[in-house]
Amino acid sequence: MVRSAEWYSGTDRNSYIHRAWMRRGLPADAFDGRPHIAIANTASDLTPCNAHLGEVARSVKEGIWAAGGVPLELPVMSLGETQVRPTAMLWRNLAAMAIEEMLRANPIDGAVLLGGCDKTIPALLMAAASVDLPVVLVPGGPMLNGSFRGELLGCGTGVWQLSEEVRAGTLSAEAFLGSESAMIRSRGHCNTMGTASTMAVMAEALGFTLPGTAGIPAPDSRLLEAAHAAGRMAVDAVAEDRRPSTILSSASFANAIVALAAIGGSTNAVVHLLALAGRAGIALTLDDFDRIGAEVPLLVDLQPAGRFLMEDLYRAGGVLAVLNEVRDRLDSEAMTVTGRTLASYLAGAEVWDREVIRTAAAPLQTAAGIAVLTGNLAPNGALIKPAAASEHLLLHRGRALVFDSVEDLRARIDDPDLDVDADTVLVLRGCGPKGYPGMPEVANLPLPSKLLATGVRDMVRICDGRMSGTAYGTVVLHVAPEAAARGPLAKLRTGDWVLLDVAGRRLEAQVEPSEWEARGPSPELVQALARPRRGWEELYVRSVQQADTGADLDFLVGSSGSAVSRESH
Ligand code: FES
Ligand code: MG
Repeated sequence: MVRSAEWYSGTDRNSYIHRAWMRRGLPADAFDGRPHIAIANTASDLTPCNAHLGEVARSVKEGIWAAGGVPLELPVMSLGETQVRPTAMLWRNLAAMAIEEMLRANPIDGAVLLGGCDKTIPALLMAAASVDLPVVLVPGGPMLNGSFRGELLGCGTGVWQLSEEVRAGTLSAEAFLGSESAMIRSRGHCNTMGTASTMAVMAEALGFTLPGTAGIPAPDSRLLEAAHAAGRMAVDAVAEDRRPSTILSSASFANAIVALAAIGGSTNAVVHLLALAGRAGIALTLDDFDRIGAEVPLLVDLQPAGRFLMEDLYRAGGVLAVLNEVRDRLDSEAMTVTGRTLASYLAGAEVWDREVIRTAAAPLQTAAGIAVLTGNLAPNGALIKPAAASEHLLLHRGRALVFDSVEDLRARIDDPDLDVDADTVLVLRGCGPKGYPGMPEVANLPLPSKLLATGVRDMVRICDGRMSGTAYGTVVLHVAPEAAARGPLAKLRTGDWVLLDVAGRRLEAQVEPSEWEARGPSPELVQALARPRRGWEELYVRSVQQADTGADLDFLVGSSGSAVSRESH
């Protein structure tokens, strides 16, 4: 018996109520025990990357009807990465909680999840893991390639590059503004290998999509075809009882970590995968990313680590072709929503453009996975993405220049009298989950304009916040514990020597141990930290965990399953 029959079967007063208000044109046999499939849709005009998902939902609906199910569109909380302040990450967990609760509370048997923009796929997957109903995810797909002055212009990445050119005086403000609609020229999410593209690939590597779906450009008709097929598959998944708990395993996370390295994916995937594993009760640690991913070659030449954009990746063979190149590193047992293993989809996944997808034998970089650093500045770990960093800075010792807030940084970074040179280590703190709050994408702090003018394009930067997946640079991020949680980063002072040794996986303040021990957090920092007194921010700051375990709320870790609760009347 399907779950929704607990609402609809029978002749009593309550089953009457549940059916009657849902009828409105639905035939009686819609309630005869066939599966009711929610379409959890994050479409919103204020999440422009997902604004087209209504059309995708229509194809999903047709697929669900065609397979004998009843489709029910369920608009769910959406997060527009570029719009909401202070950071969309502040509400990833709220969105996940709200979606989980609505999936559980409603008379549904399974769901098709529609996401795209950065936080939407993570929130949907976390919700799915915690309610543990059969789901199929359809990624909304990337925008078409942008181009400006004859060159590819990638979302986000292009903004960081061009804005630094303006600050360096090599691009006019007018030309900069002229690039706006050249960058964002169609529906879809960011077309670089930023967080949205990365999380679509992660969803596929974990087994949550129909294999071959991640990366289909949003305006491509094949996305609607895939959406139709996903609708059918959701009905199948309910019939076969394929739940997130039967798909997610240590093996599927290991495959996601391999994929993350091979695509040169966003560092944000680390917090999202850790949080998802926490929901699913799977032991996954920061060290697993280094252990499994560090030696994986970078195969995909996409911005920000490389040259091309998502449309090129799909044209070159897509995610399955990339995974086929690293199939020896994948766990062949890991399952997908289709009931077949991910590995079973790789045979025949060919590469059609070797400029975009390289071979494992001749990669863009040999060991490209995210590296996990520890030391007296980050006892619980910090990340760096070597693929997006400068080779000459991967072993670096310099004096710290410390900023206690984003406002402090903005006020001082372009001061001509700022005591800074190319060897300085720029530190921004107070930007972790509790400190900001929400852990914003500010870790790729802008370089001092007086150094930009001399040709400097990268410096070592350290932050307890995150970095946009579209950004690049020698940036140490996700320092844990964060300064606001009394992490030792709070004790660092301008002028202290700092060592970054990526090969040795070390991040250290080289301060006399007795002095380091005796120091307390900087009073200016403590002054700058967020102190919300009510509402979501208050609950968030009180309950959020650190980046090294996924920055979920402590009471949301784990699953409550899909048990049907008491009657409403
Ligand atoms: Fe939505 Fe980049 S802003 S995906
Ligand atoms: Mg982002």
